[in-house]
Amino acid sequence: MNQKIFIKTFGCQMNEYDSNRIVDSVKKIGFNKTENLDEATCYLLNTCHIRDKAKEKVYHEIGRVKKNFRYKKKPFVIITGCVAQAENEEMLKREPYIDLIIGPQAYHKLNDKIEEFLNKQKRISETEFEADIKFDYLKKIKNSSGKISSFLTIQEGCDKFCNFCVVPFTRGPEYSRPFNEIIEEAKMLAENGAREITLLGQNVNAYEYENFRLSHLIFEIEKIPEILRIRYMTSHPNDMSDDLIETYKTSQKLMPLIHLPVQSGSDKVLKLMNRKHIIKDYLKIHEKIKKINPSIKFSSDFIIAYPGEEEKDYQATLELIRNIKFINSYSFIFSPRPGTTASNLKLIEKNTSIKRLETVQNELFKNQVEMNSSFINNEINVLVENKSIKTSKLFGRSEYMTSVIFDGKEENIGRITKVKIKSSNQNTLFGESVEKSRLRVA
Ligand code: SAM
Ligand code: SF4
Ligand code: F3S
Repeated sequence: MNQKIFIKTFGCQMNEYDSNRIVDSVKKIGFNKTENLDEATCYLLNTCHIRDKAKEKVYHEIGRVKKNFRYKKKPFVIITGCVAQAENEEMLKREPYIDLIIGPQAYHKLNDKIEEFLNKQKRISETEFEADIKFDYLKKIKNSSGKISSFLTIQEGCDKFCNFCVVPFTRGPEYSRPFNEIIEEAKMLAENGAREITLLGQNVNAYEYENFRLSHLIFEIEKIPEILRIRYMTSHPNDMSDDLIETYKTSQKLMPLIHLPVQSGSDKVLKLMNRKHIIKDYLKIHEKIKKINPSIKFSSDFIIAYPGEEEKDYQATLELIRNIKFINSYSFIFSPRPGTTASNLKLIEKNTSIKRLETVQNELFKNQVEMNSSFINNEINVLVENKSIKTSKLFGRSEYMTSVIFDGKEENIGRITKVKIKSSNQNTLFGESVEKSRLRVA
């Protein structure tokens, strides 16, 4: 078979990781990735169900593909990801253009299902939860990601059932991959050129395999010489164990930014959300971490206008943002998700919700601008990822994940280099590599 697969990915980093693994897997049956939709013989849409209009977005995308192939042979259409899991056969019924539906814990069956479809032309939906079999299958397939900053899924699924969230339904129960398998994959990524690894999980810090926890994984990956930086996401406050916090005392490669979603600054709202933690717990973690290293910063996710959120609750969120000085954070208005406990609750009036979101985002914006401008005239460490063809400038990231665009030497791609920051805006720092500015002075 000589097929060309075009993949479009929505959603979180895990979907990005999955899409790359799908490419690795389908290579075995003669499918090669293309970036050009026009030449695709197979179109795969990896979907996300976390917020509003997820389903509609899928049908809209399919509509675009249909239009594109109106006068050509239809590509073979596959839907994967969290909408595939949530909707499964409904999608086959509603949209005849879709040929194959595969849920996130059934990707090990993808090749067989593709071949089955191509042989019998019978449309298929496969949405079993088989995380262990999936990872057992994928470990035999080389991870070919050659990105300087690569993702590595170590844990999947969630048992926490926050009232607003679809993830426990779409990704299934918590599952942690075997320790050695993860280390092998990390080494493989390093060989392919990865210099930074972000360990992924819906609750990454709940990782537990035999007696190994996330802290053990971090120390083991740290031993791989090519790996210069380690990150992990997304964490849950209740799994921020002392051994993980202590890791910040000794780890040389763990980056000083912790993504630890709090969702709301109000204990009342946290209870309504079924988050099972209170603000005091969060502040305690923050305090312990800051004691170890005051330069560590926190980022978070916020859900604004959750049903039952009153003015004083949302003021508490603002206060928490000012207090913790969150950077690089995400905030969205609550979006009722079908099948979740919160799906039928009375929504807060739209204008109030929008106003609250704007105020929260302004507050987060202030923190971001303040942090970014504090780097001006300072030298910071940047892991260089690539060079822009258009501007010839290098692109990399600071230790806090902020984008850095700067003048420097191309040979530094894949290395950590010192950059002197000259200006900044909300999202980006601009500067010149110290090496280059010294050359100029000399
Ligand atoms: N496990 C992580 C945690 O507990 O913080 C979060 C994972 S979830 C994939 C990412 C983010 O999506 C959540 O932190 C939450 O802010 C947001 N989210 C989830 N469901 C939502 C909903 N119904 N409406 C708005 N935002 C939502
Ligand atoms: Fe969703 Fe995270 Fe809550 Fe799990 S812990 S239900 S993934 S928000
Ligand atoms: Fe979306 Fe599923 Fe990720 S709902 S955020 S793709 S876990």
